[in-house]
Amino acid sequence: MTRVFSGIKPTGHLTLGNYLGAMRRWVQVDQHRADALFCIVDLHALTVEHDPARVWRLSRQAATLLLAAGLDPTLCTVFVQSHVDEHARLSYLLECVATDGEMRRMIQYKEKAARERERGGSVRLSLLTYPVLMAADILAYGTDEVPVGDDQTQHVELTRDLAVRFNQRYGTTFVVPRATHPAVAARVMNLQDPTSKMGKSEDVGPGIVYLLDEPDVVRKKIMRAVTDSGRDVVYDREGRPGLANLLEILAACTGGNPEDLSGVYESYGSLKKDTADAVVEVLRPVQERHRELCADAGYVEGVLRNGAERARAMARPTVDAAYRAIGLLPASADIGVSV
Ligand code: AMP
Ligand code: TRP
Repeated sequence: MTRVFSGIKPTGHLTLGNYLGAMRRWVQVDQHRADALFCIVDLHALTVEHDPARVWRLSRQAATLLLAAGLDPTLCTVFVQSHVDEHARLSYLLECVATDGEMRRMIQYKEKAARERERGGSVRLSLLTYPVLMAADILAYGTDEVPVGDDQTQHVELTRDLAVRFNQRYGTTFVVPRATHPAVAARVMNLQDPTSKMGKSEDVGPGIVYLLDEPDVVRKKIMRAVTDSGRDVVYDREGRPGLANLLEILAACTGGNPEDLSGVYESYGSLKKDTADAVVEVLRPVQERHRELCADAGYVEGVLRNGAERARAMARPTVDAAYRAIGLLPASADIGVSV
Protein backbone atom coordinates (compact mmCIF):
# COMPACT_ATOMS: atom_id res chain seq x y z
CA MET A 1 0.00 0.00 0.00
CA THR A 2 1.23 3.49 -0.77
CA ARG A 3 2.72 5.24 2.27
CA VAL A 4 1.87 8.93 2.58
CA PHE A 5 3.45 11.36 5.05
CA SER A 6 2.88 15.07 5.52
CA GLY A 7 3.29 17.66 8.22
CA ILE A 8 2.17 21.03 9.43
CA LYS A 9 4.13 23.46 11.63
CA PRO A 10 2.52 24.96 14.75
CA THR A 11 3.97 28.41 14.06
CA GLY A 12 0.66 30.23 13.70
CA HIS A 13 -3.07 29.75 13.29
CA LEU A 14 -3.87 27.52 10.34
CA THR A 15 -4.95 29.30 7.17
CA LEU A 16 -7.07 28.77 4.10
CA GLY A 17 -3.73 28.17 2.30
CA ASN A 18 -2.96 25.22 4.59
CA TYR A 19 -6.45 23.87 4.04
CA LEU A 20 -6.72 24.16 0.26
CA GLY A 21 -3.03 23.46 -0.41
CA ALA A 22 -2.66 20.45 1.83
CA MET A 23 -5.18 19.42 4.52
CA ARG A 24 -8.23 19.03 2.36
CA ARG A 25 -6.54 16.44 0.16
CA TRP A 26 -5.27 14.59 3.20
CA VAL A 27 -8.87 14.29 4.37
CA GLN A 28 -10.68 13.69 1.09
CA VAL A 29 -8.14 11.54 -0.76
CA ASP A 30 -4.98 10.41 1.00
CA GLN A 31 -6.37 8.87 4.19
CA HIS A 32 -8.75 6.72 2.14
CA ARG A 33 -6.38 5.36 -0.46
CA ALA A 34 -3.06 5.12 1.37
CA ASP A 35 -1.39 4.19 4.61
CA ALA A 36 -1.11 7.80 5.71
CA LEU A 37 0.60 9.66 8.56
CA PHE A 38 -0.04 13.32 9.39
CA CYS A 39 2.26 15.02 11.80
CA ILE A 40 2.24 18.24 13.82
CA VAL A 41 5.90 19.04 13.27
CA ASP A 42 6.54 20.95 16.46
CA LEU A 43 10.34 20.70 16.34
CA HIS A 44 10.17 22.79 13.17
CA ALA A 45 8.42 25.56 15.10
CA LEU A 46 11.56 26.12 17.16
CA THR A 47 13.67 27.29 14.21
CA VAL A 48 12.62 30.91 14.65
CA GLU A 49 12.10 33.11 17.71
CA HIS A 50 9.25 31.43 19.59
CA ASP A 51 7.18 31.59 22.72
CA PRO A 52 7.06 28.14 24.38
CA ALA A 53 3.51 28.55 25.66
CA ARG A 54 2.32 29.60 22.21
CA VAL A 55 3.91 26.59 20.48
CA TRP A 56 2.24 24.38 23.06
CA ARG A 57 -1.16 25.98 22.41
CA LEU A 58 -0.78 26.00 18.64
CA SER A 59 0.26 22.34 18.59
CA ARG A 60 -2.95 21.38 20.39
CA GLN A 61 -4.97 23.64 18.14
CA ALA A 62 -3.41 22.20 14.97
CA ALA A 63 -4.18 18.66 16.14
CA THR A 64 -7.77 19.62 16.94
CA LEU A 65 -8.19 21.32 13.56
CA LEU A 66 -6.78 18.37 11.63
CA LEU A 67 -9.38 16.15 13.28
CA ALA A 68 -12.08 18.80 12.80
CA ALA A 69 -11.21 18.96 9.10
CA GLY A 70 -11.94 15.25 8.89
CA LEU A 71 -8.79 13.24 9.51
CA ASP A 72 -10.07 9.99 10.96
CA PRO A 73 -7.72 8.20 13.38
CA THR A 74 -9.24 4.86 12.39
CA LEU A 75 -8.01 5.47 8.83
CA CYS A 76 -4.72 7.30 9.36
CA THR A 77 -2.11 8.15 11.98
CA VAL A 78 -2.13 11.64 13.52
CA PHE A 79 0.71 12.48 15.88
CA VAL A 80 3.17 15.03 17.21
CA GLN A 81 6.74 14.94 15.90
CA SER A 82 8.49 15.44 19.24
CA HIS A 83 6.68 12.40 20.67
CA VAL A 84 8.65 10.15 18.34
CA ASP A 85 12.43 10.24 18.90
CA GLU A 86 13.16 8.65 15.55
CA HIS A 87 12.85 11.99 13.73
CA ALA A 88 15.73 13.61 15.61
CA ARG A 89 17.76 10.39 15.58
CA LEU A 90 17.57 10.14 11.82
CA SER A 91 18.05 13.85 11.26
CA TYR A 92 21.60 13.68 12.61
CA LEU A 93 22.53 10.87 10.24
CA LEU A 94 21.18 12.83 7.30
CA GLU A 95 23.23 15.85 8.40
CA CYS A 96 26.20 13.59 7.78
CA VAL A 97 24.99 13.03 4.21
CA ALA A 98 23.89 16.57 3.30
CA THR A 99 26.28 19.43 2.51
CA ASP A 100 26.22 22.96 3.86
CA GLY A 101 26.06 24.31 0.29
CA GLU A 102 22.87 22.37 -0.29
CA MET A 103 21.32 23.83 2.83
CA ARG A 104 22.26 27.40 1.95
CA ARG A 105 20.58 27.07 -1.44
CA MET A 106 17.14 26.45 0.06
CA ILE A 107 14.85 29.32 -0.96
CA GLN A 108 12.88 29.32 2.28
CA TYR A 109 16.09 29.52 4.30
CA LYS A 110 17.39 32.41 2.22
CA GLU A 111 14.14 34.34 2.55
CA LYS A 112 13.60 33.73 6.25
CA ALA A 113 17.24 34.34 7.16
CA ALA A 114 17.24 37.62 5.21
CA ARG A 115 14.06 38.74 6.94
CA GLU A 116 15.49 37.88 10.35
CA ARG A 117 18.74 39.75 9.65
CA GLU A 118 16.79 42.79 8.42
CA ARG A 119 15.06 42.88 11.78
CA GLY A 120 18.47 42.83 13.42
CA GLY A 121 17.90 39.35 14.85
CA SER A 122 20.13 36.32 14.70
CA VAL A 123 19.45 33.23 12.62
CA ARG A 124 19.16 29.95 14.48
CA LEU A 125 21.34 27.11 13.18
CA SER A 126 18.20 24.94 13.14
CA LEU A 127 16.71 27.20 10.45
CA LEU A 128 19.57 26.15 8.19
CA THR A 129 19.33 22.45 9.03
CA TYR A 130 15.52 22.35 9.08
CA PRO A 131 15.16 20.72 5.63
CA VAL A 132 17.28 17.80 6.87
CA LEU A 133 14.87 17.26 9.75
CA MET A 134 12.04 17.40 7.24
CA ALA A 135 13.85 14.78 5.15
CA ALA A 136 14.13 12.63 8.27
CA ASP A 137 10.38 13.04 8.92
CA ILE A 138 9.68 11.68 5.47
CA LEU A 139 12.36 9.00 5.11
CA ALA A 140 11.82 7.44 8.55
CA TYR A 141 8.47 6.09 7.35
CA GLY A 142 9.41 4.65 3.97
CA THR A 143 7.19 7.33 2.45
CA ASP A 144 6.17 7.10 -1.21
CA GLU A 145 4.20 10.34 -1.50
CA VAL A 146 4.33 13.71 0.26
CA PRO A 147 1.17 15.77 -0.35
CA VAL A 148 2.18 19.42 0.09
CA GLY A 149 1.63 22.91 -1.31
CA ASP A 150 4.00 24.27 -3.97
CA ASP A 151 6.30 25.96 -1.47
CA GLN A 152 7.63 22.60 -0.26
CA THR A 153 8.75 21.30 -3.65
CA GLN A 154 12.40 22.18 -3.12
CA HIS A 155 12.49 20.53 0.31
CA VAL A 156 11.04 17.31 -1.08
CA GLU A 157 13.60 17.40 -3.92
CA LEU A 158 16.35 17.67 -1.31
CA THR A 159 14.81 14.71 0.54
CA ARG A 160 14.99 12.66 -2.65
CA ASP A 161 18.63 13.63 -3.20
CA LEU A 162 19.57 12.64 0.34
CA ALA A 163 17.74 9.30 0.06
CA VAL A 164 19.46 8.45 -3.22
CA ARG A 165 22.89 9.49 -1.89
CA PHE A 166 22.48 7.49 1.32
CA ASN A 167 21.30 4.43 -0.58
CA GLN A 168 24.21 4.63 -3.00
CA ARG A 169 26.86 5.05 -0.31
CA TYR A 170 25.57 2.79 2.42
CA GLY A 171 23.20 0.37 0.75
CA THR A 172 19.52 0.65 -0.06
CA THR A 173 17.78 1.80 3.11
CA PHE A 174 15.26 4.48 2.12
CA VAL A 175 12.32 4.68 -0.24
CA VAL A 176 12.77 7.68 -2.57
CA PRO A 177 9.61 9.78 -2.11
CA ARG A 178 7.88 12.23 -4.40
CA ALA A 179 5.84 15.38 -3.75
CA THR A 180 2.21 15.58 -4.87
CA HIS A 181 0.32 18.87 -5.26
CA PRO A 182 -3.37 19.79 -5.59
CA ALA A 183 -4.65 20.57 -9.10
CA VAL A 184 -5.65 24.10 -8.05
CA ALA A 185 -4.69 26.26 -5.06
CA ALA A 186 -1.24 24.73 -4.63
CA ARG A 187 -0.17 28.25 -3.67
CA VAL A 188 -2.87 30.44 -2.15
CA MET A 189 -1.63 34.03 -2.11
CA ASN A 190 -2.03 36.76 0.50
CA LEU A 191 -5.21 38.72 -0.27
CA GLN A 192 -3.47 42.05 0.36
CA ASP A 193 -0.25 41.12 -1.45
CA PRO A 194 -1.02 38.57 -4.12
CA THR A 195 2.65 38.19 -5.03
CA SER A 196 3.42 36.55 -1.67
CA LYS A 197 2.11 33.33 -0.13
CA MET A 198 -0.71 33.34 2.39
CA GLY A 199 1.55 32.20 5.23
CA LYS A 200 0.45 31.62 8.80
CA SER A 201 3.74 32.69 10.31
CA GLU A 202 3.46 36.17 8.83
CA ASP A 203 2.16 39.04 10.91
CA VAL A 204 -1.55 38.89 11.50
CA GLY A 205 -3.04 40.71 8.60
CA PRO A 206 -6.17 41.40 6.62
CA GLY A 207 -4.74 39.35 3.75
CA ILE A 208 -4.82 36.03 5.59
CA VAL A 209 -7.98 33.96 6.08
CA TYR A 210 -7.67 31.77 9.16
CA LEU A 211 -9.65 28.55 9.45
CA LEU A 212 -11.21 29.82 12.66
CA ASP A 213 -12.15 33.29 11.35
CA GLU A 214 -15.84 34.11 11.90
CA PRO A 215 -17.91 34.25 8.67
CA ASP A 216 -18.20 38.06 8.72
CA VAL A 217 -14.42 38.37 9.14
CA VAL A 218 -13.87 36.01 6.20
CA ARG A 219 -16.30 38.04 4.08
CA LYS A 220 -14.63 41.33 4.98
CA LYS A 221 -11.15 40.02 4.15
CA ILE A 222 -12.23 38.66 0.78
CA MET A 223 -14.32 41.69 -0.20
CA ARG A 224 -11.28 43.88 0.54
CA ALA A 225 -8.82 41.70 -1.37
CA VAL A 226 -6.44 43.67 -3.56
CA THR A 227 -7.32 43.17 -7.20
CA ASP A 228 -5.83 44.75 -10.28
CA SER A 229 -6.63 47.94 -12.09
CA GLY A 230 -8.31 46.23 -15.07
CA ARG A 231 -12.09 45.83 -15.25
CA ASP A 232 -12.63 42.56 -17.06
CA VAL A 233 -12.40 39.24 -15.26
CA VAL A 234 -9.62 37.16 -16.84
CA TYR A 235 -7.41 34.40 -15.44
CA ASP A 236 -3.81 35.53 -15.76
CA ARG A 237 -1.52 34.45 -12.92
CA GLU A 238 1.40 36.63 -13.96
CA GLY A 239 -0.37 39.74 -15.15
CA ARG A 240 -3.39 39.75 -12.80
CA PRO A 241 -2.26 37.90 -9.65
CA GLY A 242 -4.94 39.28 -7.31
CA LEU A 243 -7.75 38.23 -9.57
CA ALA A 244 -6.14 34.87 -10.34
CA ASN A 245 -5.86 34.17 -6.61
CA LEU A 246 -9.60 34.77 -6.09
CA LEU A 247 -10.49 32.61 -9.10
CA GLU A 248 -8.29 29.81 -7.77
CA ILE A 249 -9.76 30.01 -4.28
CA LEU A 250 -13.29 29.93 -5.74
CA ALA A 251 -12.36 27.04 -8.03
CA ALA A 252 -10.80 25.07 -5.19
CA CYS A 253 -13.87 25.62 -2.98
CA THR A 254 -16.49 24.80 -5.61
CA GLY A 255 -14.67 22.14 -7.60
CA GLY A 256 -14.53 24.33 -10.73
CA ASN A 257 -11.67 25.49 -12.87
CA PRO A 258 -10.29 29.06 -12.65
CA GLU A 259 -10.15 29.57 -16.41
CA ASP A 260 -13.82 28.57 -16.89
CA LEU A 261 -14.93 30.60 -13.88
CA SER A 262 -13.33 33.77 -15.26
CA GLY A 263 -15.86 33.63 -18.13
CA VAL A 264 -18.79 33.60 -15.72
CA TYR A 265 -18.12 36.94 -14.00
CA GLU A 266 -18.57 40.45 -15.32
CA SER A 267 -17.44 42.32 -12.23
CA TYR A 268 -14.91 41.97 -9.45
CA GLY A 269 -17.66 42.60 -6.90
CA SER A 270 -19.72 39.56 -7.82
CA LEU A 271 -16.61 37.36 -8.03
CA LYS A 272 -15.57 38.48 -4.54
CA LYS A 273 -19.03 37.88 -3.13
CA ASP A 274 -19.26 34.35 -4.51
CA THR A 275 -15.72 33.58 -3.38
CA ALA A 276 -16.50 34.80 0.13
CA ASP A 277 -19.69 32.68 0.25
CA ALA A 278 -17.81 29.62 -1.01
CA VAL A 279 -15.05 29.98 1.57
CA VAL A 280 -17.54 30.48 4.41
CA GLU A 281 -19.35 27.28 3.34
CA VAL A 282 -16.12 25.30 3.17
CA LEU A 283 -15.05 26.47 6.64
CA ARG A 284 -18.43 26.08 8.34
CA PRO A 285 -18.33 22.31 9.03
CA VAL A 286 -14.67 22.49 10.10
CA GLN A 287 -15.48 25.22 12.61
CA GLU A 288 -18.51 23.36 13.94
CA ARG A 289 -16.55 20.17 14.49
CA HIS A 290 -13.70 22.18 16.03
CA ARG A 291 -16.10 23.59 18.63
CA GLU A 292 -17.25 20.08 19.52
CA LEU A 293 -13.72 18.72 19.79
CA CYS A 294 -12.60 21.60 22.00
CA ALA A 295 -15.13 20.40 24.55
CA ASP A 296 -13.52 16.95 24.52
CA ALA A 297 -9.81 17.50 25.20
CA GLY A 298 -9.35 13.91 26.31
CA TYR A 299 -10.29 12.66 22.86
CA VAL A 300 -7.60 14.68 21.09
CA GLU A 301 -4.99 13.63 23.65
CA GLY A 302 -5.91 9.97 23.18
CA VAL A 303 -5.62 10.26 19.40
CA LEU A 304 -2.15 11.78 19.71
CA ARG A 305 -1.00 9.17 22.20
CA ASN A 306 -2.09 6.27 20.01
CA GLY A 307 -0.75 8.03 16.93
CA ALA A 308 2.72 8.41 18.47
CA GLU A 309 2.77 4.75 19.45
CA ARG A 310 1.87 3.63 15.95
CA ALA A 311 4.33 6.05 14.37
CA ARG A 312 7.18 4.94 16.63
CA ALA A 313 6.64 1.31 15.68
CA MET A 314 6.70 2.21 11.98
CA ALA A 315 9.80 4.43 12.10
CA ARG A 316 11.99 2.40 14.41
CA PRO A 317 13.05 -0.42 12.04
CA THR A 318 14.00 1.98 9.21
CA VAL A 319 15.99 4.28 11.49
CA ASP A 320 17.74 1.32 13.14
CA ALA A 321 18.62 -0.01 9.69
CA ALA A 322 20.07 3.40 8.74
CA TYR A 323 22.20 3.43 11.92
CA ARG A 324 23.60 0.03 11.08
CA ALA A 325 24.16 0.85 7.42
CA ILE A 326 26.12 4.02 8.14
CA GLY A 327 28.50 2.20 10.49
CA LEU A 328 27.11 2.57 14.00
CA LEU A 329 27.29 -0.40 16.30
CA PRO A 330 23.88 -1.69 17.43
CA ALA A 331 23.24 -1.15 21.14
CA SER A 332 21.73 -4.59 21.71
CA ALA A 333 23.75 -7.52 23.08
CA ASP A 334 23.19 -9.27 19.81
CA ILE A 335 25.77 -7.32 17.85
CA GLY A 336 26.47 -10.14 15.48
CA VAL A 337 30.24 -9.57 15.26
CA SER A 338 33.01 -10.96 17.40
CA VAL A 339 35.50 -8.51 18.85
P1 AMP B 1 3.14 25.11 6.96
O1 AMP B 1 2.08 26.09 7.30
O2 AMP B 1 4.33 25.80 6.36
O3 AMP B 1 3.46 24.16 8.03
O4 AMP B 1 2.53 24.24 5.77
C1 AMP B 1 1.73 23.10 5.93
C2 AMP B 1 1.22 22.65 4.57
O5 AMP B 1 0.37 23.66 4.01
C3 AMP B 1 2.36 22.46 3.56
O6 AMP B 1 2.03 21.36 2.73
C4 AMP B 1 2.35 23.73 2.76
O7 AMP B 1 2.84 23.55 1.45
C5 AMP B 1 0.85 24.05 2.73
N1 AMP B 1 0.63 25.50 2.59
C6 AMP B 1 0.99 26.46 3.48
N2 AMP B 1 0.63 27.68 3.03
C7 AMP B 1 0.07 27.47 1.80
C8 AMP B 1 -0.49 28.35 0.83
N3 AMP B 1 -0.56 29.65 1.01
N4 AMP B 1 -0.99 27.79 -0.30
C9 AMP B 1 -0.96 26.45 -0.50
N5 AMP B 1 -0.45 25.58 0.38
C10 AMP B 1 0.07 26.07 1.53
N1 TRP C 1 8.37 22.11 5.99
C1 TRP C 1 6.95 21.93 5.93
C2 TRP C 1 6.29 23.30 5.82
O1 TRP C 1 6.86 24.29 6.15
C3 TRP C 1 6.41 21.20 7.12
C4 TRP C 1 6.97 19.82 7.18
C5 TRP C 1 7.90 19.38 8.07
C6 TRP C 1 6.63 18.74 6.33
N2 TRP C 1 8.17 18.07 7.84
C7 TRP C 1 7.42 17.64 6.80
C8 TRP C 1 5.77 18.58 5.26
C9 TRP C 1 7.37 16.39 6.16
C10 TRP C 1 5.72 17.34 4.63
C11 TRP C 1 6.51 16.27 5.07
O2 TRP C 1 5.17 23.34 5.41
